[in-house]
Amino acid sequence: MSSNTNVLRVGLAGCGTVGSGVVRVLGENKDWLRTRSGREIVLTHLLEHSPQKLQGLPVPTGLIVTDDPAQLTDNPDIDVVIELMGGIDSPGAFIMRALDNGKHVVTANKALLAEAGLPLLEKAAERGVSLLYEASVAGGIPIVQAMKESLAANRIVSLSGILNGTSNYILSKMEAAGTDFATALAQAQELGFAEADPSLDIDGQDAAHKLVILIRLAYGTEYPYTQLPVQGIRDIDQLDIGFAREFGYHIKLLGTVRAEDGSLQAGIFPTLIRKSALLAQVSGAFNAVWLHGNAVESLFFHGKGAGSMPTASAVVGDLLALARGTAPNNTGFVSQIPSAARIMPPA
Ligand code: HSE
Repeated sequence: MSSNTNVLRVGLAGCGTVGSGVVRVLGENKDWLRTRSGREIVLTHLLEHSPQKLQGLPVPTGLIVTDDPAQLTDNPDIDVVIELMGGIDSPGAFIMRALDNGKHVVTANKALLAEAGLPLLEKAAERGVSLLYEASVAGGIPIVQAMKESLAANRIVSLSGILNGTSNYILSKMEAAGTDFATALAQAQELGFAEADPSLDIDGQDAAHKLVILIRLAYGTEYPYTQLPVQGIRDIDQLDIGFAREFGYHIKLLGTVRAEDGSLQAGIFPTLIRKSALLAQVSGAFNAVWLHGNAVESLFFHGKGAGSMPTASAVVGDLLALARGTAPNNTGFVSQIPSAARIMPPA
């Protein structure tokens, strides 16, 4: 931790859509954040190959911009590293090194957490540091923290979510404006919601990454990403949308998990949802999570699942928890390492 305990020193890796939002929130809400935590959160280092991305942002005085990851991971003057680079191998090694050096890490990297998250959780537990990831699922919707803390008393009976804004945007446009698939996808890319490789969005893998993380949070168990049944929206056409409409349904790409007799039934599928249901009314790039807990009963979360500022809201929320010293443990369970889930065969 910082020698000056009134300051939390932060290194940010990546100044793309989300990273630029983080710089903005830290700059624009600086005083407010101090009011919330009693400490100053100072961005000291930025790992970024293209420093021109800082143009127009409230850049803090003295910010060091570097293209050397070690200046963040190995720097004794940094308390927290934020990873917003995207990808799996290189951010995985980056986070591992930061954790190993005793730094707290905040990340939005759902692919990394879902496909290769266990060694990182193990390393964080071994070093006694936080690995926080509110921004990895459903952008600005505070579902990670809710599952770890506010809803922790519940056995989660079932959970369904619209977890990919790009797919929901495409389906909404196809339905409301008769837009064809390719045009709607191009619009989502222009608006900045789509992944660098948009097949992750439309083939369901992005939603699958998020569902694997939600399953960990809900049950404390690991549903291997490679075993999750996944079907995307690539093959949905106007004929499907028309039939669904005629019978009173919308088509949504839904991630679902249900616990039955100790086994989990889960998957990502295009799903017919009755028009009157709340999930059917989630349109455009919005995300939603609908869950049923055995004490709380039914809950519905709705909000922006992507985009610069909504996702930055989640990242900076994690930073505030670290600044306050109130960060929850990394999984929401005593065991910091999820055990293997009992999986109901998809058939
Ligand atoms: N490509 C993702 C989406 C971004 O469309 O939801 C947020 O994870």
